[in-house]
Amino acid sequence: MTVPWWQSGVIYQIYPRSFQDTAGDGVGDLKGITRRLGYLAELGVDAIWISPIYPSPMADFGYDVSDYCGVDPRFGTLADFDDLLAQAHARGLKVLLDFVPNHTSNQHPWFTESRSSRSNAKRDWYLWRDPAPGGEPPNNWISDFGGRAWEWDEASGQYYYHAFLKQQPDLNWRNPAVRAAMHDVLRFWFDRGVDGFRIDVLWHLVKAADFPDNPPNPAYRPALGEMDRLLQLHSTDQPEVHGIAADMRTLADDYGAAGQGERVLIGEIYLLVERLMRYYGEGRAGVHLPFNFQLIEAPWQARSLAALIAAYEAALPPGGWPNWVLGNHDRPRVASRLGEGQARVAAMLLLTLRGTPTLYYGDELGLSDVPIPPDQIQDPRELREPGKGLGRDPLRTPMPWDDSAHAGFSTASPWLPLNADWPARNVARQLAEPGSILALHRRLLAARRAHPALAIGDFALREAEGDVLAYERRHGADRLVVALNLAARPQRLALPEWAHDCRPLLSTLADVTPVQDGALLLRPDEGVILTLAD
Ligand code: NOJ
Repeated sequence: MTVPWWQSGVIYQIYPRSFQDTAGDGVGDLKGITRRLGYLAELGVDAIWISPIYPSPMADFGYDVSDYCGVDPRFGTLADFDDLLAQAHARGLKVLLDFVPNHTSNQHPWFTESRSSRSNAKRDWYLWRDPAPGGEPPNNWISDFGGRAWEWDEASGQYYYHAFLKQQPDLNWRNPAVRAAMHDVLRFWFDRGVDGFRIDVLWHLVKAADFPDNPPNPAYRPALGEMDRLLQLHSTDQPEVHGIAADMRTLADDYGAAGQGERVLIGEIYLLVERLMRYYGEGRAGVHLPFNFQLIEAPWQARSLAALIAAYEAALPPGGWPNWVLGNHDRPRVASRLGEGQARVAAMLLLTLRGTPTLYYGDELGLSDVPIPPDQIQDPRELREPGKGLGRDPLRTPMPWDDSAHAGFSTASPWLPLNADWPARNVARQLAEPGSILALHRRLLAARRAHPALAIGDFALREAEGDVLAYERRHGADRLVVALNLAARPQRLALPEWAHDCRPLLSTLADVTPVQDGALLLRPDEGVILTLAD
């Protein structure tokens, strides 16, 4: 049975500013990623997704694109990208880019034209509206980064809508010319050989045509971001978005059908499961993988996680392939949320659940969120609503490679501070330590390659009590039990008859303990994979 690479493989997210600098300016670049491809191949991942690399004024660090078909000089050149792609492919690694279709930069030539006059041909490429009576914004919508989502343009006497910063005006996806232009962008990169895209805020693309007010959120508390004052009922997740996703899917599938290799689309979508599932599309004509972020926010508790996993599996449409994520460039790091002991258990969970895992760079080292001194804060999210813990700088800090100056990340002072423990917590050190969390990731990724049951097998939750989460994976004769102790005290798991002869394949701790009397004794913070003895 052949399974597409995006189902059996593991994706690794790179935040390019923070991976490896070669230019000596303290900011990571494409040549840096190319230099570290050997590390990634040996780690055992199958694909990299690189956050935006396009020309950008960097108001939102690349999520404000001013040219979709280029490379920002801070990151290198198009030739550097082609080289990266060729070298990645030579190592068997796929490369995904970040597609940012909801908004451009306000410096994008399309917006410059659009704002130039009400009669400009590109006026309708963005969302321009007359003021409400009294000159107020057209409705009550709030930016995801806080503050009102409408910016007044004095010269043309209208407001434009921006779901994020005012430097990120939203495109009008109801306009066929916008769709055509964005399809050209996808083709530009697909033609160069890019294997797929992560699609930024896919559920935001279409807004209710008549822009009604959003209703108040009854669960709002002042500790939350201002955006949470309202439910985004009319500003996101409109039915028309599915046709747009389907068109992108058709475009991507055409490459596969032409024998040019399967291209994948992954949608960034923060919605409850039932709404999320719709992004697989009618007849699987939507994105291949609507990102499943539940593990990032779920309470770390065995029974509720078991229920969450069961509910997600049950909600998948026929043929819909699952996926799991523990962290990304917007959310606190897993080691900060759970501590290192449970971060190891979480890594085992991520890499043994059914579905495509996405690993966030640095999580394989157990990196924690790095406190950022106030005068070094960069993220507009933090600067707009300070002190609420919404800032993303702490989880975007440079990758510590070794114990040389600046952790081998750069020859200059990095754009964000390194983790304070970098002299000890770095790649080189952890590669030399068999018990490190990096070594654990390498063993888990090797196990996925060796065991089809882990990569593509069936999944069944096992009954377990207390703090133990247990499940089986099976593919033909390949059969495994995964048992995770989510607490810092020992636990006992009674095994089914067939597993009495199993031996431990690996543990999140340094050594393994055998199955005794049909049961597995899990030590504090221990996860174990059992396999049928040969
Ligand atoms: C979601 C991205 O993940 C985030 O980093 C960005 O700020 C917003 N979209 C706006 O593009």
